[in-house]
Amino acid sequence: MSRRRRSASSRRWLERQARDPWVRRARAEGFRARSVYKLEEMDRRFRLLRRGARVLDIGAAPGSWSQYAARRGCRVVAVDRLEMAPVEGVRFVRGDVRDPALWRRLRAELGGPAEVVLSDLAPDAIGDRVTDRLRAEAVAEEILALLPEVLAPGGLLVLKLVAGAEAAIRPLAAARFARVRFVRPRATRAESSELYLVCEDYRPQAAGDATPPASGTGAGSTGASSPSASRAPRS
Ligand SMILES: C[S@@+](CC[C@H](N)C(=O)[O-])C[C@H]1O[C@@H](n2cnc3c(N)ncnc32)[C@H](O)[C@@H]1O
Repeated sequence: MSRRRRSASSRRWLERQARDPWVRRARAEGFRARSVYKLEEMDRRFRLLRRGARVLDIGAAPGSWSQYAARRGCRVVAVDRLEMAPVEGVRFVRGDVRDPALWRRLRAELGGPAEVVLSDLAPDAIGDRVTDRLRAEAVAEEILALLPEVLAPGGLLVLKLVAGAEAAIRPLAAARFARVRFVRPRATRAESSELYLVCEDYRPQAAGDATPPASGTGAGSTGASSPSASRAPRS
């Protein structure tokens, strides 16, 4: 791409950012990205985040979802393959979630099974609809397959998808969770094909998944407390 075309598209991007009310609100409220309002909407609708809950934020950079969860009083571990500036109260792990060895590290950082797994992860898009959908499906499948490493029975998953991927991913999610819903939050850009699966009440045994170890050490195989039992009232 020529320098002139790149600067024209950068200018258009900057103009769009300046006009976008969600961007302005995020700046005013000290959040790093407008996407925080997608999580906020889902949290208001489905009561996802409770004070004290262990939360794993996947694909976390630049960090607005982690900021939001930390402000809600959750104990947050964030992971991204990019570096992320520190967020108060959030433990950050740098790595690629397709690496199974990383999940042992995440489990250790969490210090016990998570009550909530959030994934706003976006694989690199190449602009080819089919390839991009297949990539999104592949990484969503990997996240679902690795849930037993980190998610407590009864827990919640929020999983970003691109339109079209839900046909492959929904049955896999429905085999593991008692309730699965699609959500397209209001802050989603009109031209974006993204949507979220909100999956409630993780049932690892139903899909033949092992339950997660009780501690971050990898020892033991049960003992995860039920998230609903550990939920405190919303502040
Ligand atoms: C849309 S951004 C997340 C925005 C974030 N929720 C926020 O509100 O600040 C998606 C992130 O997914 C990360 N990502 C994509 N593929 C990844 C992978 N395989 N492993 C870890 N992170 C990944 C990208 O580096 C990017 O930071």
